[in-house]
Amino acid sequence: MLSTKKFIQWTLGVVMLAYAFGPTDRKTLGSHSDSPSEYYPPDFYPNGTDLVLPMGSIRYWLMGDPNGKKVVLIHGISTGAACYISLSKILADKGHYVLLFDLWGRLFYLHKKKGYAEAPPHYYDESLYTTQVALVLQKVGWTSTDVVGVSLGGAIATSFASFYPEMVNKLVLIAPAGLMHRADIPMSGKIVAHPLLMRLFEQGWIQPFARKAFKLFIDNSSLRKELADDPLVDQISSVATHQFIHHPGFIRAFLGTLADYPLSGLDERYRILGNYSNIPVFVLWGDNDKTVPYKYHHVLQKYVPHAQISHYKGGGHDILLSHRDRLNSEICDFLS
Ligand SMILES: *[C@@H]1O[C@H](CO)[C@@H](O)[C@H](O)[C@H]1NC(C)=O
Ligand SMILES: *[C@@H]1O[C@H](CO)[C@@H](O)[C@H](O)[C@H]1NC(C)=O
Ligand SMILES: *[C@@H]1O[C@H](CO)[C@@H](O)[C@H](O)[C@H]1NC(C)=O
Repeated sequence: MLSTKKFIQWTLGVVMLAYAFGPTDRKTLGSHSDSPSEYYPPDFYPNGTDLVLPMGSIRYWLMGDPNGKKVVLIHGISTGAACYISLSKILADKGHYVLLFDLWGRLFYLHKKKGYAEAPPHYYDESLYTTQVALVLQKVGWTSTDVVGVSLGGAIATSFASFYPEMVNKLVLIAPAGLMHRADIPMSGKIVAHPLLMRLFEQGWIQPFARKAFKLFIDNSSLRKELADDPLVDQISSVATHQFIHHPGFIRAFLGTLADYPLSGLDERYRILGNYSNIPVFVLWGDNDKTVPYKYHHVLQKYVPHAQISHYKGGGHDILLSHRDRLNSEICDFLS
C-alpha cells in the first residue's frame, strides 16, 4: 500500500502538472449516474421527495407523525443523511415528524435526468450550507422545528440557529465542528484543501486518480478499524466509501468544505447562540474524538453557558452510531 508520505508527494506532483496543463471546469457536477448505490438507494428512508433548488437538486425524506413535534436532522461531511439510520427511526417511532435531507454534493442516485443530488460550483462555505437548510425548510413549509446536527452538521445547525433563532425550538449538537484551532485540523485535510488542489479536482481527468486515493484513505480510516464488527457502522462506512469512489461531485463538496467552511472559525455564531437562552441546547461529545476533539466543549460552554453537555467516556467521533442506545434515548428525552 502507498505510504502517506509517498501519496502526498505524488499528489503534489500531479497538482503542479495539472495547474500547468489543465483547463478549469465550473459546471454543476451530477451524482453517480449509471447504477444507483446499493448502499444508499433513493428509498433508503421512506417517503422521499426530489427537490429542485436554485443551486442544485437534492432529495429529502419525511417520516413519522405529521402531527408530531418537528425535527430536522443535519448530517456531517461524508455520509449523507444515511448516518441517521438509527436515530431517525427512534424519533419517528416516538411520534416526532422527522425531516432528513442530503447536503449538496452528497450521495444520491441519478433519477433519469430528474432531480439528483448535484454538486453546485459554489464555495462550500457557511452561507451555502446555512442557506440550504433555510431553503429546504421553506419548501417543506416548516416555520419552526427542533434541529439536530452532527459534526459539520452541528456547525451548520449552530449557524442556522444564529441567523434564524425564531425557527429553532431546541438544538442538539453531536460532536459539533466550528470551534477547533487550525492546528487540530489533520495535515491531510490542510493539504487537500489547498487552492491548487481544489483547482485540480475541478478537472475531469483527475477524478479516477482522486477516487483511488480516497478509497485508500477510507479503507484505512480508524472508523473502519475500530468498529468493523458492528454491522450498522459497516453499512454506513460503505455508504461513505461508495460516494468517495462513485460520486464525481462528492470530492468537490468534500474538499470545498475543508477549504472554505469555517471548521475552526465559527466562534461568533456560538457566541450569538449563547444570547438565545430561550433555545435549549444539548451537546453530546465523546472524549476520545480524534476528529473534533472533546476539549473544545470548554469553549462551547463558555460561549453558550446554558448548553447542557453529555460526556461520552471513551466515545469517538462516531458516537451517533457507536453509542446509539444511550445517545438515542438521551436525545429523545431532551426533545420530548
Ligand atoms: C494507514 O494507517 C497506517 C497506521 O495508522 C499508516 O502508517 C499508513 O500510512 C496509512 N496509510 C495510508 C494510505 O494512509
Ligand atoms: C410524505 O412526504 C410528503 C411530501 O414531502 C408530505 O407532504 C407527507 O406529509 C409525507 N407523508 C408522511 C406520512 O410523512
Ligand atoms: C448578546 O446580547 C448583548 C445584550 O443585548 C449584546 O450586548 C451582545 O453584543 C450580544 N452578543 C452577541 C454575540 O450577539
